[in-house]
Amino acid sequence: MSHMSPELPEHAGAVEDLLDLCFGPGRYAKTAYRLREGVEPVEGLSWLWIDNGEVQGTIRYWPVLIGGKWPALMLGPLAVLPRLQGTGIGRALMRHTLDLAREMGHERVMLVGDEPYYARVGFSRAAGKGLDMPGPVDHSRLLALALAEGAMDGVAGMIGKPLSTSKPAGASAKGVSDAA
Ligand SMILES: CC(C)(COP(=O)(O)OP(=O)(O)OC[C@H]1O[C@@H](n2cnc3c(N)ncnc32)[C@H](O)[C@@H]1OP(=O)(O)O)[C@@H](O)C(=O)NCCC(=O)NCCS
Repeated sequence: MSHMSPELPEHAGAVEDLLDLCFGPGRYAKTAYRLREGVEPVEGLSWLWIDNGEVQGTIRYWPVLIGGKWPALMLGPLAVLPRLQGTGIGRALMRHTLDLAREMGHERVMLVGDEPYYARVGFSRAAGKGLDMPGPVDHSRLLALALAEGAMDGVAGMIGKPLSTSKPAGASAKGVSDAA
């Protein structure tokens, strides 16, 4: 039976296969991956869609800092098995994890993606208009969502890694690059 499940360490290989299938190995060149390097995904927000042991959908979030002072979540990667795309799995994973994020006290989320799709769960270019990324980015795809009222008001600037969760220098980033 298909269901949502928190991602566990034993799922890492299947998630990696799914991301390879959906994005290809070239995904590591994306600007978003620079922000993920050396940083762990946000605990409690990595979820899967599973059916009979098959990982069919994945969502993860990374912590970022906007303008050096506003903590935020970066949604992604989000991916669904090609044969099941368009059946509501992506939306279900987003709705569930965004609700959890709100309950956990996170105030804002940003992502790089297509507004017509992500607007269905509340993301907009308008909310993300003051954002910038350290590398090539199509600004029309920089979207944001306030999880608390007014939480994107006046929020602008370069998106960077969080100050507190970066691994110490010399720590292996293997788990991270494998995970994303
Ligand atoms: C994008 C993705 C995660 C969406 O997940 P999904 O489970 O297929 O999407 P859902 O079933 O929740 O929603 C499907 C609806 O969104 C629409 N949609 C999907 N991708 C879209 C896009 N990029 N832009 C606009 N609409 C889109 C579909 O047309 C469909 O519309 P309908 O409900 O009117 O029929 C999935 O297609 C995927 O894995 N794609 C490859 C990886 C990728 O591009 N990830 C996103 C990175 S930004």
